[in-house]
Amino acid sequence: MKDSPFIYGTTVSVQSFTNREIESGKLKSNLLNGINTTIISPRRWGKSSLVEKVIADINKKEKLTKTVIIDLFSVGSEEEFLENFAREVIKASSSKWQEWMGSGKDFFKKLIPKLSLGIDPTSDFSLSFDWQELKKNSDEILNLPEIIAQKKGIKFIICLDEFQNLSSFNDYVVFEKKMRACWQRHKSVTYCLYGSKRHMMSDIFNNPSKPFYRFGDIMLLQKIETKKWVSFITKSFSNTSKIIDEQTAEMIPKIMKNHSWYVQQLAHYTWNLTDKKATINELNIALTELINANAPLYQKEVESISQTQINLLKAVTKGETQFTSTVTMQKYLLGTPRNVSKNKTILINNDVIHEINGTYEFVDPAFELWFNKQFFNKIYTITK
Ligand SMILES: Nc1ncnc2c1ncn2[C@@H]1O[C@H](COP(=O)(O)OP(=O)(O)OP(=O)(O)O)[C@@H](O)[C@H]1O
Ligand SMILES: [Mg+2]
Repeated sequence: MKDSPFIYGTTVSVQSFTNREIESGKLKSNLLNGINTTIISPRRWGKSSLVEKVIADINKKEKLTKTVIIDLFSVGSEEEFLENFAREVIKASSSKWQEWMGSGKDFFKKLIPKLSLGIDPTSDFSLSFDWQELKKNSDEILNLPEIIAQKKGIKFIICLDEFQNLSSFNDYVVFEKKMRACWQRHKSVTYCLYGSKRHMMSDIFNNPSKPFYRFGDIMLLQKIETKKWVSFITKSFSNTSKIIDEQTAEMIPKIMKNHSWYVQQLAHYTWNLTDKKATINELNIALTELINANAPLYQKEVESISQTQINLLKAVTKGETQFTSTVTMQKYLLGTPRNVSKNKTILINNDVIHEINGTYEFVDPAFELWFNKQFFNKIYTITK
């Protein structure tokens, strides 16, 4: 049996990566031309995949440009970030571990890194610092890529995923200023900073009173168009000796509102259930499977929000827009106008809903389907 051509749950950069020619082109040109770039989009639309794809292209062609991708998702403190940053920059600077081991005396003035190799010296390289010293001399780490780049006549592109996570560190305000002050002077290093917490990312990059304001280009990543999904889905089916006609394929992005992860997930379930030719029948079963598979997650999500917020979501589901009108507040038990306004802000900041042209929409299309089923017993069935 062939493997599914649809992938979700990890980033897609080679296999299963579709489209995004315009965004890839723009990001690549920015990064190769020294324009720092911030990418913002809701969760799972494809930021990390886009960056990986562009970096893979750059790695193939640009031998004098060294690239680093660090995911800050699980980094818990400034010191840990700095160690990680230094290690990855040193690793990217050379393919020879002998050079990594020499980096202590070559690239540092005040700090003395403890360097060690693991069992596999080609990848297992670790480095640590005295944390007191590290904190005092953090600019030496922040400037490390520029120093190495100058000394070796190379360039760096540094991509930091889930960048907004840094803002939870103690003393972030001071550190943020320091990062900006160091990085803006770099001539041979370009930064790509991206993350899924839209509200936090906007606050870091769009706020005129914050250091990272106007740090570079801001790309608000959009969804992939239906037309492109349809051709990706039909081709992926036929490459694996199965068939889906365009009309049926089009239903997949339509139901999933072009949300990258869910389009792939629904396409995968449909593909899996299809023997030769996919029909509406397989699609309907696939949709039920998808919602059931994600249900525990959604259940947890509603458990973490208050009753009046759930009521507000009910109003959103029903297409209401005037939440503070007396009729709507009474009908959905939304509380006082102050409650409504507070709850709306919370739901927007947590990326549960967003506003599009004056109306409100769930950010997660499958959560909305589940919500409808759970609270209104409304089951979505696909018909031709
Ligand atoms: N260009 C693409 N073509 C096809 N599928 C894609 C593309 N980009 C993303 N996807 C799908 O969306 C999923 C999520 O992508 P990715 O992890 O890159 O998004 P993200 O915006 O970084 O998510 P998060 O906010 O969770 O970090 C992937 O696993 C894949 O299924
Ligand atoms: Mg990501």
